[in-house]
Amino acid sequence: MSSNPIFCAVDTPDLVKAEKLGGQLRGHVHGLKLGLEFFMAQGATGYRALSGFGGPVFLDVKLHDIPNTVAGAVTSLLPLQPGFMTIHTSGGPAMMRAAAETAAKAGQMRPKLLGVTVLTSLDAKDLAAVGQDTHTAQQVTRLAKLAKESGLDGVVCSPEEVKVLRQTLGPDFILMVPGIRPSWAAAGDQKRVMTPREAINAGATYLVIGRPITGAADPAEAAQRITQELAT
Ligand code: C5P
Repeated sequence: MSSNPIFCAVDTPDLVKAEKLGGQLRGHVHGLKLGLEFFMAQGATGYRALSGFGGPVFLDVKLHDIPNTVAGAVTSLLPLQPGFMTIHTSGGPAMMRAAAETAAKAGQMRPKLLGVTVLTSLDAKDLAAVGQDTHTAQQVTRLAKLAKESGLDGVVCSPEEVKVLRQTLGPDFILMVPGIRPSWAAAGDQKRVMTPREAINAGATYLVIGRPITGAADPAEAAQRITQELAT
C-alpha cells in the first residue's frame, strides 16, 4: 500500500467547487478522481485546471468501444498525462490490448489502465436480463483475469471483491477500491462498505473516497484523520 492510498472522488460538474477542493486537499490525499460528470462538463480545460493540484489524477472515463476507437480515445487523452484511467473489461481482450499498447507509447508518463468489471449497480437479475447468467463473483474474477492477461495494470473493485482478487491476481495488480466508509462517516447510498483499514487489510492498493471527505466541514482534516487511522 502507498503511505497515503486515498484518491478523493471529485463528483461535481462545477469547476469552482472542484478547484477549491483540489486546493484544500493538496498534500492530504494521494490523488483526485475525476469522473464523467466533471469531464463531460469541463473537458480537457477543466482537467488541466485541476491537474496541477500536486498528485496524480485518476481519470475515470470508463472507455468502451471497438479497439480502434478506444485506442484513438487513449491517444487523445495521453497529452493530459492522467496517472490512471478506466476501461470496461467487457469490451474484450482486443480492445484492452489496443488501449494498453497505445498507453505504452507515452513511455514513463504512461497512464496506468484500470479495468471496470461488473458495475456494482447491477444485481443478478439485471445481469440475467442482459444475458449474463454467471454468478457475479465468478464474472468479476473472470473479467479481472482477462484484464491482467490483456495488459491492464489493475481493476476497480468493490470491497467485497478485494480479497479474492488479491489472492487470484497476485501482489502487484492494482486494486482501486470505492465503497469505503470510515466508522465515523455516513454510508449514504453505499450498501456494502468497508472501513479504510479493512479494505487495506483485504489487499486494496488504493481507496476511492468521496463524500466522507468532500462532505466534511474541513475536507483536509477528514483526509488526515483517515491517513492517521491507517498509520496506527
Ligand atoms: O462518495 P463516495 O465515497 O460514495 O464516492 C465513491 C466514488 O466511487 C464515486 O465517484 C462513485 O461513482 C465511485 N464508484 C463507486 N462504486 C463503484 C465504482 C465507482 O462508488 N463500484
